[in-house]
Amino acid sequence: MGTAELYRRFAAREARGNSPRYEALAEQIAEDDELTSLIGRLPDPERQPNLLLAAVRFLGGPTDAPDAFRTWVRDHWDEVRETVLTRRTQTNEPGRCATLLPLPASLPRPLALIEVGASAGLCLYPDRYRYSYDGRPAFGPAGSPVTLDCHTSGPVPLPRNRRPSSGEPASTSTRSTFATTATSAGWSA
Ligand SMILES: C[S@@+](CC[C@H](N)C(=O)[O-])C[C@H]1O[C@@H](n2cnc3c(N)ncnc32)[C@H](O)[C@@H]1O
Repeated sequence: MGTAELYRRFAAREARGNSPRYEALAEQIAEDDELTSLIGRLPDPERQPNLLLAAVRFLGGPTDAPDAFRTWVRDHWDEVRETVLTRRTQTNEPGRCATLLPLPASLPRPLALIEVGASAGLCLYPDRYRYSYDGRPAFGPAGSPVTLDCHTSGPVPLPRNRRPSSGEPASTSTRSTFATTATSAGWSA
């Protein structure tokens, strides 16, 4: 896939609805022959939009105005290039917990979760988030700042509230950075 198409797709499929700023910048890059030419000379995996955009932020470049962004990236290309060639993103998507929850909710507790490639480990805490399936009232810890909305299709075995929310964390202990035990999570199959 060409660089312009890569950034156009990122804008439409990943940034839209999540990050207006990244959407605008990726669209701008896609239309800019000079930037797509510079980015196109990077090795394939390093052309990825979230890595380039994160590198610019990491280096303190302007990301709130597409014109200033364009000029800055062009003027600092050697630094940007060095950064994307030597660093990686650590993306984490706790939203995946909503699609995974039907399985742990159907199993006897306690459960221990181990994730290979955990990034920050945000998917290791399904019992810390609230869930709303298909627009139904959310359930989960009352004090959680995170509610995951999930729309389903087909015969999904939806989890349901197991007990009234107490506001207390459902996870009772943490084994290590990469494993947590969920002994009293507020959901079941
Ligand atoms: C895209 S992130 C996904 C993070 C998390 N699993 C999620 O779903 O939100 C991929 C993670 O896998 C890690 N990773 C890549 N290759 C790996 C390997 N061979 N062994 C262990 N972790 C790896 C990366 O460092 C990164 O943290």
